[in-house]
Amino acid sequence: MGKLKIAVIGAGSISSAHLSSYAKNPEVEIYAICDLVEERARSAAEKYGAAKVYTDYHELLADSEVDAVSICTWNNTHVEISIAALDAGKHVLCEKPMSTDIDKALALQEAVKRSGKQLQVGFVRRYSGSAKVLKQFIDSGDLGDIYYAKASILRRLGNPGGWFSDVERSGGGPLMDIGVHIVDLCWYLMGRPKVKSVTGNTYTKLGNRTNIKNLDFYKAADYDASKNTVEDLANALIRFDNGASLFVDVSFTLHTKQSVSSVTLYGDKGGAEVEPDFVIVSEKHDTILNMTPQIDYPGFNMEEGFQNEINHFVNCCLGRAELISPVEDGVEITKILCGIYESSKTGKEVLF
Ligand SMILES: NC(=O)c1ccc[n+]([C@@H]2O[C@H](COP(=O)([O-])OP(=O)(O)OC[C@H]3O[C@@H](n4cnc5c(N)ncnc54)[C@H](O)[C@@H]3O)[C@@H](O)[C@H]2O)c1
Repeated sequence: MGKLKIAVIGAGSISSAHLSSYAKNPEVEIYAICDLVEERARSAAEKYGAAKVYTDYHELLADSEVDAVSICTWNNTHVEISIAALDAGKHVLCEKPMSTDIDKALALQEAVKRSGKQLQVGFVRRYSGSAKVLKQFIDSGDLGDIYYAKASILRRLGNPGGWFSDVERSGGGPLMDIGVHIVDLCWYLMGRPKVKSVTGNTYTKLGNRTNIKNLDFYKAADYDASKNTVEDLANALIRFDNGASLFVDVSFTLHTKQSVSSVTLYGDKGGAEVEPDFVIVSEKHDTILNMTPQIDYPGFNMEEGFQNEINHFVNCCLGRAELISPVEDGVEITKILCGIYESSKTGKEVLF
């Protein structure tokens, strides 16, 4: 059998994590790159040896040589491009957030069903070594019943600007961009319980703070600080039908001493910190134990996470593996994220 011919749509920052991982997979040929900005697509095609360059994804999808696509475009285009790709008979790896709208997420779920093709959602943190090992411990009952989880990614200064700060294209600020990762990771490790209700708050108090000097931060490919229509901070309490709850807070900017990233789960037999560093907490012989699993990357490592994610997608396309992050999970996470924005807008708890 020949190699799986891959195309990448959207050749901005994150596409290089997809492309460098595909390049290391011997069963893949990087066949085409598409971007609205031709020069960006061309330069990635040259770097990774892709035969074709497109600026219109419809034309790329009409190319019968393409077996599968990675979608690395602005959030508001994910569903539309994914549906078109599935309808054209391609497998899809769709970057997070899968959708910024629940009706669109459900339309995508329908498209997956009718196409019979694979759609993997890019919940990359599920593919990290620590998440994989912890899942094994959880599935074996080592943490018991997980009844609470808490996750934060608080940037003191880190509004990426460009499309990230334009609600029309991003669907939201830190909640859509980074909150999606930690809400998903907790929900996945908690055993994907059904969401019962969501209470959330979003704040736009500090703006993008372009006045700050002496500190550098990540900026979008098309950085433009003149538009900022997204929240600076979001927090939420999510309740599940098994009684478990998840508290989350995320910011692009906040008057905090330093940026933090933490993900913790608490069960009735043990707990676990997944970020910043992997620790499992338990007790034995009336003594509390903090156990440090010995693995290559105790925190989230981008290179490892993306390589595992891409390898898994390739295996699914080749019919050798089952999806770890299917469209149904993307729908549930969309429900939670949209619920948080709705609750913040109405000032009321959203019940599902
Ligand atoms: N999994 C992760 O850890 C992670 C990290 C960063 C970004 N992302 C996601 O990846 C996506 C892209 O983010 P980025 O940081 O690379 O942004 P970026 O701005 O650097 O790149 C986006 C690219 O998409 C192109 N584009 C937009 N619409 C297009 C269309 N219709 N057809 C072709 N090209 C189009 C733009 O021209 C741009 O080059 C976002 O959805 C983001 O949430 C995921």
